[in-house]
Amino acid sequence: MMSNYFLKWDYALLVVLIMLYDAGLIHGEVTCLENERQSLLRFKQGIDDPLDILSTWRDDDCCKWQRITCSNQTGHVLRLHLRGSYSHYLFGQANTSTLIDLQNLQHLDLSSNRFLNSNISEDIGLFTKLRHLNLSYSEFRGSIPYQLGKLTHLQYLDLSYNFLDGVIPYQLKHLGQLQYLCLQGNSDLSGAIPFQSGDLPLLQTLKLGGDFDLETKGAEWVSNLSFLNTLDFTSMSLGNSHHWLQMIRAIPNLSLRLPKGGSTDLSSNQFEGVIPSFLLHFSWLILSRNKFSNVSSLLCQENNIGRELGTLDLSNNQLKGSLPDCWKSLSSLLFLDLSNNNLTGKIPPSLGSLVKLEALVLRSNGFIGKLPSSLKNCTSLLLLDVSENLLSGPIPSWIGESLHQLIVLSMSGNSFSGNISKHLCYLKKIQLLDLSRNNLSNKIPTCLKNFTAMSQKSVNSTENTRLIYWHNSTYYETYGLFISRYIFNITIMWKGVKCGLKNPELLLNSIDLSSNHFTGEIPNEIVYLVGLVSLNLSRNNLSGEIPSEIGNITSLESLDLSRNHISGTIPSSLSEIDNLGMLELSNNSLYGRIPPGRHMDTFDASSFEGNHNLCGTQLNKTCPGDMPEVKPEEPTTHDDADDNSDFYEALHMSLGFGFFTGFWGLLGPLLFWRSWRIAYLRFLNKVADYIYVTVAVYVAKFHK
Ligand SMILES: *[C@@H]1O[C@H](CO)[C@@H](O)[C@H](O)[C@H]1NC(C)=O
Ligand SMILES: *[C@@H]1O[C@H](CO)[C@@H](O)[C@H](O)[C@H]1NC(C)=O
Ligand SMILES: *[C@@H]1O[C@H](CO)[C@@H](O)[C@H](O)[C@H]1NC(C)=O
Ligand SMILES: *[C@@H]1O[C@H](CO)[C@@H](O)[C@H](O)[C@H]1NC(C)=O
Ligand SMILES: *[C@@H]1O[C@H](CO)[C@@H](O)[C@H](O)[C@H]1NC(C)=O
Ligand SMILES: *[C@@H]1O[C@H](CO)[C@@H](O)[C@H](O)[C@H]1NC(C)=O
Ligand SMILES: *[C@@H]1O[C@H](CO)[C@@H](O)[C@H](O)[C@H]1NC(C)=O
Ligand SMILES: *[C@@H]1O[C@H](CO)[C@@H](O)[C@H](O)[C@H]1NC(C)=O
Ligand SMILES: *[C@@H]1O[C@H](CO)[C@@H](O)[C@H](O)[C@H]1NC(C)=O
Ligand SMILES: *[C@@H]1O[C@H](CO)[C@@H](O)[C@H](O)[C@H]1NC(C)=O
Ligand SMILES: *[C@@H]1O[C@H](CO)[C@@H](O)[C@H](O)[C@H]1NC(C)=O
Ligand SMILES: *[C@@H]1O[C@H](CO)[C@@H](O)[C@H](O)[C@H]1NC(C)=O
Repeated sequence: MMSNYFLKWDYALLVVLIMLYDAGLIHGEVTCLENERQSLLRFKQGIDDPLDILSTWRDDDCCKWQRITCSNQTGHVLRLHLRGSYSHYLFGQANTSTLIDLQNLQHLDLSSNRFLNSNISEDIGLFTKLRHLNLSYSEFRGSIPYQLGKLTHLQYLDLSYNFLDGVIPYQLKHLGQLQYLCLQGNSDLSGAIPFQSGDLPLLQTLKLGGDFDLETKGAEWVSNLSFLNTLDFTSMSLGNSHHWLQMIRAIPNLSLRLPKGGSTDLSSNQFEGVIPSFLLHFSWLILSRNKFSNVSSLLCQENNIGRELGTLDLSNNQLKGSLPDCWKSLSSLLFLDLSNNNLTGKIPPSLGSLVKLEALVLRSNGFIGKLPSSLKNCTSLLLLDVSENLLSGPIPSWIGESLHQLIVLSMSGNSFSGNISKHLCYLKKIQLLDLSRNNLSNKIPTCLKNFTAMSQKSVNSTENTRLIYWHNSTYYETYGLFISRYIFNITIMWKGVKCGLKNPELLLNSIDLSSNHFTGEIPNEIVYLVGLVSLNLSRNNLSGEIPSEIGNITSLESLDLSRNHISGTIPSSLSEIDNLGMLELSNNSLYGRIPPGRHMDTFDASSFEGNHNLCGTQLNKTCPGDMPEVKPEEPTTHDDADDNSDFYEALHMSLGFGFFTGFWGLLGPLLFWRSWRIAYLRFLNKVADYIYVTVAVYVAKFHK
């Protein structure tokens, strides 16, 4: 009995032991190796860590420290991931020599920190098992050590955005496993790209940039790269002698084998002449700021290439002559930017076959004639910008009837005539409407209040982000990830100054009908557009009075009604708009007292001059009496009350006027723009996060 009892206990003990062993609580678990732990601590010694990022780096088991991953078999440190961010980063010196005991390290990421005065030590060549090395954005200095060429397992090498100088060591050509190489953003790198045809057989992405030369063999080398995904030569300067670039100043028609979803950015170079058709194999093609002059060879292909082209940016080139009418083959285009070229003739009707198009930018060319009605097929358009051309005819009714998704419509600086038809009011999502500098006439339609997006108190940026940036997985499979990178760039006039704004439609609602021949009154319905940030109706023939409830548009930051025939008094509600940073009422027939109020005092005489019967401190014209308004040409009388008001006005001027104009005159616009800038930066951050998340999701989904 007794032995049986003990037997049972032995058995139970065994079960418990097995359980403990399984849970790693006894000696089954591997822990950090002491020499590797010491190595990490030596590295930490050089680091300045005020944000306590390495606070867990103290206990015995370095495998439990944050940002470290060990092998669960051997306990060797495999991964050291010290990537910082814009708000969380390390300072001090990153001395990679101190880490040489980490002989099994496969992944080393020290990116996005502030390692001032650190260089990449020659010892980096001892980490022979490294597959992933990212030292980008961390302020490393000095040369690229040639010992990097010993890291033959390296697949990802990112040294971008540091202060590296000297030449690119030719030994890098031994990196036979390399798939990704990024050296851009190191402005002091010089010399030639030392690779030859056949080197780096697995390279998929090459990002160079900076100010250096490519060997004559470059073109051949590039053309032999198999599966090149991304070719990025952004802003390569042509300062020195650049054989390769000179050779391809007119890019030859290379034969590259390209996978789906490839992208290339050749912007801001000196490429000229014909655009080679092989580029059509990319999904994302940025050729802006070059000297290309001929687009025909790109478009009028009969062999069906270009079916996956999603983004084509040819802005700021020297394209001239009429645009060929063969756009049918590029049926997948989403973003087309041909702005700032010398294109003439009519807008080709075959653009209407681009039914997926979301942005069409033809700004600043010499296009003539009417807008082709085929464009009504482009029902996905979010942005249509045909401004600064020689276009004429009426504003087509199909814009309102068919282009229901439009957020931005800019037709300014043309010769469009006739009236604004009520069809335009169907544009419920419109946020930026610019019809300025045309020959439009008749009344401004009252149906403007149907602009639903403008009648919301604030812009629904979730909705806009969804519209512009949310594309489902099918979409990324077709076009690749870069497709999200198209930046909406709008030019608006701001107090007579042209401003290029990126993605402004996501922040502001604006109507600009200035410099036309509109007549009649400002429709009262305008006050329903409570989300309006900027309203410019200047330089027309408008008459009647300013709608008395204009103060309901509380988000208004800029109001320009100058150079019309507007009469009556300035509604006092205007003084209640806290955001109003710019007000132009000059050269009208307004009369009476400029309504008092903090904000009204911030505007100087130029906002009101040219209205012969206005009075107020801003114009140094005292108003007779305390009467709120004065009829024009009516004789006025002086009495005691008047003297009193003169006195108070004088006091007001000496105390407040100088202070307020001085203060607000200088800081007002600054604050005003600053608020935009901040909002914009916030938005950019969001988009960046958003894209990051989207990419992460995509990668997770498709690389499983
Ligand atoms: C050990 O690591 C490998 C690869 O990282 C993983 O697949 C495995 O599940 C791990 N084993 C344990 C017991 O954690
Ligand atoms: C980096 O660390 C190594 C090894 O600890 C040391 O010999 C070297 O002097 C250090 N370099 C600098 C620049 O401090
Ligand atoms: C390297 O790090 C930077 C910034 O931390 C990141 O943007 C980049 O994608 C990384 N490169 C690779 C190849 O992972
Ligand atoms: C790094 O700095 C050390 C000391 O200043 C210097 O001896 C070494 O050559 C530098 N290494 C590189 C790759 O610039
Ligand atoms: C394009 O037009 C502008 C203005 O008409 C002119 O100054 C410029 O020289 C033209 N460029 C080319 C390449 O024709
Ligand atoms: C536009 O669409 C209509 C009908 O959907 C079609 O008949 C016409 O050919 C299309 N136009 C162009 C230029 O694709
Ligand atoms: C404007 O909206 C009203 C109410 O939704 C609708 O009845 C009217 O037809 C619309 N007018 C135009 C021109 O869109
Ligand atoms: C903004 O748009 C999103 C997505 O369309 C919607 O779910 C949300 O209700 C909208 N928010 C507001 C305040 O209208
Ligand atoms: C993705 O979007 C496309 C085009 O908008 C649509 O046709 C398709 O059904 C969507 N796919 C999924 C899985 O939502
Ligand atoms: C946006 O447009 C303006 C004016 O045309 C131009 O100066 C600016 O460089 C453009 N920005 C981008 C990012 O394209
Ligand atoms: C303007 O605002 C006032 C006060 O909030 C409100 O009573 C009035 O109805 C509004 N007017 C319009 C046209 O919405
Ligand atoms: C108003 O008076 C002030 C101070 O005397 C002077 O600086 C300003 O130029 C005057 N403004 C006008 C519009 O006359």
